[in-house]
Amino acid sequence: MITFPKDFLWGAATSAPQTEGAALLDGKSPSTWDKWFEMEPELFFDGVGPNDTSNVYVQYKEDIALMKKMSMNSYRTSIAWTRLLPDGKTLNPKAVAFYRDYFEEMIKQGIEPIINLFHFDMPWWLMEKGGWEARESVDHFAFYAKTAFEQFGDIVKKWATFNEPLVHIECGYMGDAHYPKVHDFKRAIQVGYHTLLAHAAAVKAYKESSQNDGEIGIILNLSPVYAKSEEPADQEARHKADLIYIRSFVDTVVHGYFPQEFIDLLEENQLLPETQAGDRTIFEENTVDFLGVNYYQPLRVQAVENPRFPAQSPGDFARYYDWPEKRINPHRGWEIYPEGMYDIAMRLKKDYYNIPWYVSENGMGVEGEEQFLDAQGVIQDDYRIAFLEDHLAMLAKAMQEGSQCFGYHMWTFVDCWSWLNAYKNRYGFYRLNREQNYARSDKASSYWMKQVIEQSGFEYGGHL
Ligand code: BG6
Repeated sequence: MITFPKDFLWGAATSAPQTEGAALLDGKSPSTWDKWFEMEPELFFDGVGPNDTSNVYVQYKEDIALMKKMSMNSYRTSIAWTRLLPDGKTLNPKAVAFYRDYFEEMIKQGIEPIINLFHFDMPWWLMEKGGWEARESVDHFAFYAKTAFEQFGDIVKKWATFNEPLVHIECGYMGDAHYPKVHDFKRAIQVGYHTLLAHAAAVKAYKESSQNDGEIGIILNLSPVYAKSEEPADQEARHKADLIYIRSFVDTVVHGYFPQEFIDLLEENQLLPETQAGDRTIFEENTVDFLGVNYYQPLRVQAVENPRFPAQSPGDFARYYDWPEKRINPHRGWEIYPEGMYDIAMRLKKDYYNIPWYVSENGMGVEGEEQFLDAQGVIQDDYRIAFLEDHLAMLAKAMQEGSQCFGYHMWTFVDCWSWLNAYKNRYGFYRLNREQNYARSDKASSYWMKQVIEQSGFEYGGHL
């Protein structure tokens, strides 16, 4: 029997831009996703854009009733910056009414809201000024955060500043999956610096707000890094990848400073960002209360044969290693490695004073799930149940060994729109039937999870 504490937070996660819809209704201004879809709709899977998500702006009460039916006790979503402050300054009363009702309804049904402020949805008015590349983005974000705390801090007691900051940095400034599709390592570092500074400024705003009796953290995607071999060159690649993808974020938000080795690496490669006097104090004084960890897959690396100097991308420090023995989710192309969950937990225990944390995302996206529909109209997603069992077993092992994990959220609750992938891969406990008025229907994993929640555990047959 795999068991969890009685007060463990069980739930699921999503974000405003991936669920609400109503992208330009009731005063909301366009986010960069809304504009990008207008400019290049062909880039989005099946041509489905951010206006056509799961209609949560209308159906939130129905979803909360389903959460209750599943016995969930917590749920993460985000606020859309562009809905709350359409021009960055003026409060939108319709947004306040919507979010208050949404969060109050959760609380009424025994579901604790965990509310995140930024889930990749940069306002278009700010993107036109340079987005996170512009120093002014930090003050704009701090103002938005302060406004959210003032409006909802009486009922929301767990806040997150950002979801996966690495992703908008990497996909937007070293890749093509996010706007503005720039490939420039130095600009990416500047974007990362301003993002982390904006995070610390938001933590500061929370501490200074009159409703600061809750907790504030950040949600990071942490992929434990493994080397191809014990060879020194592969180990060095592992060390560098870990420094760039893990320590530059976790050290900064938990300890309050960038690792010196990371600063040296940037300096040697002429990548140092522009900073201002006083920034250091903001980082030092505004560390997090907890971490949310999104874990999907590990990162496997090997030595780089001919690295460029100065480096042009993280690929000059570590090269991706395709481990021949890996188990894979073929729909997403991501490795399935539940042991990574245990390794992250132990790392937080060892290197980050065993900070309280929770699994803020973990899950499995599958294409064409309708093929698993049974005669009762239920999707028989055994693969998802097996995935959950293996990851939860690893999490429980870490907790037995002292890891301070306080919850587990699956990505996601109802199948949601996912950026350029739109509805390609489905992740939910419930299926979204867009063609039938956005009706929600059951997947077997929702029944399985309900039982796990009610029994605080499950009988594990073991696949590992
Ligand atoms: C996470 C993000 O990284 O992965 C989510 O926080 C995203 O926003 C999820 O939807 C799944 O991504 P994808 O690309 O497989 O649909």
